[in-house]
Amino acid sequence: KREVPKMKDKKIIFSGIQPSGNLTLGNYLGAIINWIPRQDEYNCIYSIVDLHALTVRQNPAELRQKTRSLLALYIACGLDPDKNVLFVQSHNGAHAELAWILNCYTYTGELSRMTQFKEKSQSHADNINAGLFTYPVLMAADILLYQTDLVPVGHDQKQHLEITRDIAQRFNNIYGEVFTVPEAYIPEVGARIMSLQQPENKMSKSDENPNNYISLLDSPNTIVKKFKRAVTDSERIIRYDEKDKPGISNLMSIYASVVGKSYKEIEEEFQGKGYGDFKQRVGEAVAETLKPIQEKHRELMADKGYLDNIMKDGAERAENLSYRTLRKVYKKIGLVPRG
Ligand code: TYM
Repeated sequence: KREVPKMKDKKIIFSGIQPSGNLTLGNYLGAIINWIPRQDEYNCIYSIVDLHALTVRQNPAELRQKTRSLLALYIACGLDPDKNVLFVQSHNGAHAELAWILNCYTYTGELSRMTQFKEKSQSHADNINAGLFTYPVLMAADILLYQTDLVPVGHDQKQHLEITRDIAQRFNNIYGEVFTVPEAYIPEVGARIMSLQQPENKMSKSDENPNNYISLLDSPNTIVKKFKRAVTDSERIIRYDEKDKPGISNLMSIYASVVGKSYKEIEEEFQGKGYGDFKQRVGEAVAETLKPIQEKHRELMADKGYLDNIMKDGAERAENLSYRTLRKVYKKIGLVPRG
């Protein structure tokens, strides 16, 4: 039986990923890679946020499969289930419960300013549902339930973290110090991995064109091919310039994150070399990094019992931790305890 982390003996990290598609290199470099080195220093809680994924229509069988696959990927990427609480969001009812309460402390005006809502409303114009609108409130509930100190995410989640802080502060101003006000952790390199074919857009797991993204489960061959096809520019010099050379700069940030080199070191490594060599090397480096993750993922997916156990255990621990906050919230706002 795994131990329930004590609430405040270490600082708390919470983050999550939607099981809405195959994880991309963007999710890995923007988020997961920053989760791994913190498992000893912090109490870490990582969710597979399946309720968030429902804001876009999902195929039920695929959603189930992707939820398990994402848990296997968390572990395959290096998250130790003994050190981190890994759980499926819908397994802990407290998320939906707190989200309802926080809905009553969030203004429609602030929700309508969210860029992700505006973007998703455009890309899913036939299904602009209320869940898509209140999505950030559920995210605030995820984070605030655990008295989270730090939330490691990619750049696209910055605005959602800001609204989470606003909601927490608003609530605390009325009822006293109920919630810890969390900080975002957004890495300097890797927080905005861009599409390979359209480097002005973010790399996204829901992109219709698979050449735009690298899936963590792409074969080494496919990875190298996708990098070779990546859009660059006509200058033929490998240097970092996000504005004028978005394609090359994106490949440089991927390479920098994967091999741990600075942009300057990369410029030196490829001085006098062509884009072909560079793309080949980036592709190989990514494929090498992903290979052990893919092998581990394959092994884990074959062991359904093991994954089910981790899920069950994670749900119990998550529930246990979060109900302390939920009970306090209910009491503060005047709901009668059930007794
Ligand atoms: P999601 O599932 O879209 O993405 C998961 C994580 O990956 C990061 N990310 C990227 N980083 C760099 N470059 C990219 N191209 C890229 N694409 C995605 C995201 O920033 C994120 O960190 N709303 C969240 C999920 C969520 C959550 C939470 C996160 C729900 N509740 C509570 C933190 C805390 C989302 O849709 O992430």
